[in-house]
Amino acid sequence: MHGVWLGHPLHPAMVQVPVGAWVSAGVLDLMPGQRRAATTLVGVGTVTAVPAAVAGLNDWAALAPEQRRVGLVHAAANVVGVTLYAGSLAARLAGRHGAGRTLGFLGLAAVSGGAYLGGHLAYKQAAQVNHGVTEMHRLPEDWRPVADLDQIPEGSLVRRTVEDVDLVVYRDGSDVTVLLDRCSHLAGPLSEGEVTKLDGHVCVVCPWHGSTFRLDNGQVVHGPAASDQQVLPARVLDGVLEARLP
Ligand code: FES
Repeated sequence: MHGVWLGHPLHPAMVQVPVGAWVSAGVLDLMPGQRRAATTLVGVGTVTAVPAAVAGLNDWAALAPEQRRVGLVHAAANVVGVTLYAGSLAARLAGRHGAGRTLGFLGLAAVSGGAYLGGHLAYKQAAQVNHGVTEMHRLPEDWRPVADLDQIPEGSLVRRTVEDVDLVVYRDGSDVTVLLDRCSHLAGPLSEGEVTKLDGHVCVVCPWHGSTFRLDNGQVVHGPAASDQQVLPARVLDGVLEARLP
């Protein structure tokens, strides 16, 4: 439900359906002769809000404490909105379209407040954004030395810093992988995580919330992270491991 299979956080994608249906119902409520279409859209929004809320609850459980506080108010506003829309649907189905319209507009006001807080969570508090992206912008484009290869022990995670950007290096024989150290979920230090094997692939498990990434290509195999961990191109030149921007 975090969106690992989609490669994108699932909750913000799922809320498009109820929000779109409810806004459209509000427009139809202002036009004559559209009662039936508006009732259908209110029903679609109310039903599809449920799985969107489940995905949101799943994301909320893995947020930082200050993000959770805002997330709680975001959820409360949306619960009020969904309740009003459920009442609106019941009134419309009972033929009380005036009451249904009023409850619908009140619901739209409540979910708009909830949406505002959802935007605050994403854009002000960086919930469910890929924390590796900002790190990438600080890396140089040309090859930079990371470490002498013989200083990288096999089978364990080693942290190195290039231009103030923390990297995690994993060596398996002659294969060396260099990834950003800060987890794409909430920037936890992957170099302090555990190496494990999943489905035949060597993976790192983030020490903060357990997101799991393949060490050969950074692919996320277990959330809450919904984005892959960035792998950097690496080469060995005269015994020195170098990395650069992809
Ligand atoms: S920081 Fe949350 S799983 Fe890595």
